[in-house]
Amino acid sequence: MKKFIGVAAVAATLIALTGCAGGADAGSGDSGDIVVGFSQVGAESGWRTANTISIQGAFEDAGIELKFSDAQGKQENQIKAIRSYIQQGVDVIAFSPVVESGWDEVLQEAKDAGIPVVLTDRSVDSKDDSFYESFLGSDFILEGEKAGDWVNTEFADADHVNIVELQGTTGAAPANDRAEGFRNKVTDPKFEIIASQTGDFTRAGGKQVMEAFLKANPDIDLVYAHNDDMGLGAIEAIEAAGLVPGEDIKIVTVDAVKDGMTALSEGKINFIVECSPLLGPQLVDIVKSLVAGDSVEKRIVTEETTFTKEQAIEALPDRQY
Ligand code: AHR
Repeated sequence: MKKFIGVAAVAATLIALTGCAGGADAGSGDSGDIVVGFSQVGAESGWRTANTISIQGAFEDAGIELKFSDAQGKQENQIKAIRSYIQQGVDVIAFSPVVESGWDEVLQEAKDAGIPVVLTDRSVDSKDDSFYESFLGSDFILEGEKAGDWVNTEFADADHVNIVELQGTTGAAPANDRAEGFRNKVTDPKFEIIASQTGDFTRAGGKQVMEAFLKANPDIDLVYAHNDDMGLGAIEAIEAAGLVPGEDIKIVTVDAVKDGMTALSEGKINFIVECSPLLGPQLVDIVKSLVAGDSVEKRIVTEETTFTKEQAIEALPDRQY
């Protein structure tokens, strides 16, 4: 509660100084008075689009003003957006950090201004966890481990397995953690990660990197793609090389967006680890609790599952994203 008296005071000072009424009476607890600043990573994937829709829709439904900015994959744009939200005296700042490192300075500025910060989807590697109130999102290490578990079962009888890895954006938490989780499980020496490169979480990136992998390596058994979009790009490259995705080369991905699930139902992807983008309603709840002065959980892990081909066929008709 004390924090919000601070926020309101900072906001009032800023309004007085700038004449810009961006802030709100944060202590009132009335949704109509709350202003939230959200900095999104960009629009790199189907997952990201679904995440943006979930967040914008949830705040609209709750009648809470959302100032939204798209960082187009650049950390400097996110830092600028956060500074602008601090200046405007918003009640809560939320963001999905494009990369894990390099946030301490701007988070210290938010803390000094008394504005609570919520991390959604991705975390930061700051030593000081007082920089943020809550982190809402998936356990990316567990996701990588689930992919690894499937690989162990799928290739139980194989003597040697050549794996190529399409990594997410370099330095991003899901890229770091999904690589780590996979390696935690795929420990048998018969598994060889023969190539690993970033495809930046995009379909075009996945296709381009896979084309290069195929040229350099004639015997690829498995693609581990850190998201569906890169897996879908890899499918295009595999088909263009005259091979059958899902048969000649097995594919495991993370996300379970509709396009990925469709490819899984067609047998072009073999297994998907779910990563849910539907974070909007929970973020709204966190914001309301913070503004009301209630305590919030420091870490809220998203509930997720995995999908085989049969499960994808069953789930697809009701898939929201
Ligand atoms: O941070 C979540 C990841 O970011 C998703 O798995 C990926 O599709 C997105 O771009």
